[in-house]
Amino acid sequence: MNAAIDRYAVIGDPVAHSLSPRVHALFAEQVAQELTYECILAGVDAFDAAAGDFFREGGRGLNVTVPCKFAAARWVDELEPAAAAAGAVNTIVPFTQQTQGTVRFRGHNTDGPGLLGDLTRNLREPLAGRRLLLLGAGGAVNGVVRPLAGQTPQELVIANRTAARAQALAAAVRAEFPAVKISGCPLADLSGSFDLVINGTSAGLAGQVPNVRGEVVKGALCYDMVYGAETAFCRWALAQGARGVSDGLGMLVEQAALAFTLWTGKVPRTQPVLALLRADAG
Ligand code: ATR
Repeated sequence: MNAAIDRYAVIGDPVAHSLSPRVHALFAEQVAQELTYECILAGVDAFDAAAGDFFREGGRGLNVTVPCKFAAARWVDELEPAAAAAGAVNTIVPFTQQTQGTVRFRGHNTDGPGLLGDLTRNLREPLAGRRLLLLGAGGAVNGVVRPLAGQTPQELVIANRTAARAQALAAAVRAEFPAVKISGCPLADLSGSFDLVINGTSAGLAGQVPNVRGEVVKGALCYDMVYGAETAFCRWALAQGARGVSDGLGMLVEQAALAFTLWTGKVPRTQPVLALLRADAG
């Protein structure tokens, strides 16, 4: 490998089918930046060694995906505020400490701003004054719940299979956003209607749909944070009368663009990249 070319990667498990290498290659082409972007397979136990090796070998930046985002937050030397609040990191940026000249690592979380960018710019979905429902209370939801609460929705409900996790997360976020009505409940207790329903569970990885009454998604825009031509959640939501569905491809591209800017200082345009990926998917 040419040592002069900047090296980036995504680390997690699974990563083999990640679209991140293609997204970053398209950004690089757009802004005439030479880089390589690879996939590193590592679970939580292998994360520290794999991340350390990558940067020792000259890596310039890492994206972190499931299930390593919490491990990455523990591994870095510093956390920017959104990553500290979520306790989860999806982008690692190395920097040289002025006083000692040593390389240190800062953890960022671009998932929340990436989701907001897709919802508001690409999908033109207003959030202020709306009723929002988040399904799940794991890493994916932790990464986006505060940026969503910051949009001053009328109400934000977090529902999870394990109710205690939803309630604990709701209590923590409520304390940070006292002006927003925020609650947590079990999936099975959900009723009524919402403007926007975001699936942040990993149920889809097993081809499952969170166990929610159909009325909850009727008339809502239903957003699956996972990407794929037609996710099980999107298919189910349409059958229940959702007003629209979207997978998380736009979020992937938007969060990637923010990471790309953190690494290179250059701002790629996301819409042409998203359009190309949609065309690839047929
Ligand atoms: P991630 O980082 O992908 O969010 P996680 O932290 O393990 O992974 O969280 C997975 C989320 O998906 C959790 O909210 C989990 O619910 P529990 O807290 O009850 O485990 C949810 N989840 C996973 N499989 C699910 C299923 N079949 N139905 C509903 N929720 C599911």
